Amino acid sequence: MGKNRPIGLFDSGVGGLTVAHALQTLMPAEQLIYFGDTAHLPYGDKSGETIVSYSLGIADFLLEQDCKVIMIACNSASANAFEEVKKHVGSRAVVMNVIDPVVNHVCGDNGIARAGNAPRDKRPGRSVGIIGTKATIDSGTYQQKITGRKPGIQVSAMATPLFVPMIEEGFVFDDISNAIIRSYLSRKELEGIDSLILACTHYPIIRNQISRYFNFEVNVLDTSRIVALSVQKFLSENGLLCSKRPGGDAFYISDHTPYFEVISSMFFNEKIHLEKRNIWV
Ligand code: DGL
Repeated sequence: MGKNRPIGLFDSGVGGLTVAHALQTLMPAEQLIYFGDTAHLPYGDKSGETIVSYSLGIADFLLEQDCKVIMIACNSASANAFEEVKKHVGSRAVVMNVIDPVVNHVCGDNGIARAGNAPRDKRPGRSVGIIGTKATIDSGTYQQKITGRKPGIQVSAMATPLFVPMIEEGFVFDDISNAIIRSYLSRKELEGIDSLILACTHYPIIRNQISRYFNFEVNVLDTSRIVALSVQKFLSENGLLCSKRPGGDAFYISDHTPYFEVISSMFFNEKIHLEKRNIWV
């Protein structure tokens, strides 16, 4: 397992860039290979079976790029396809998902010492809300994993399916996004929560607006940072941190979408080079 191989990560679209950005911030020496499956966006409305078949195809593409880690930077795919991708990849790369690090954080045993305990990452309390796509929420993965480990935590999960198309279309800081955010977050499911898990990698893009809706009184977890910290911990503990960057980061999408570049430029200072790669033909 060569430590100087890249980290591959994928999502249906721009969402996984929140994880890519957090990884790059924590570990600038690592080379990232990103795949946004924009031809099949959104994943959140698809069946588990369909999400598995897309995920396996992308895993093969990332293996061709010689990735040491395949991070499923998508909650919908993490919830529905993690075991299948892991089995398919076998010993060729380490497969990671975005759900387990957040569950570990919520349950208080992620082992990420004080680094993960900065005020914005403070531990959730007893009443935790979860918002994500239908594929993630309906899978029950977060709910089962959290209550299976900490039955005392009250979990309330709600699908917020309009957020992904809203973000992919570039509605993030305006009246439209604020109205949609207000409409979802004011529902009774989220009444009385002290913490909120953004169980979709697109959502950290609107984390500030979500915090503002709650008057900053709810602990809105920075899930992409929690995931990146867990990758860093894993690489470091397993002697897999890169010592010599093998090359520049690469960003692929399976179909052109107008806002991908706009949104990606919000994350990365220098304009990222996007390449269309239709792996589905
Ligand atoms: N960003 C993804 C997630 O974390 C996918 C959203 C979608 O394509 O519906 O679930």
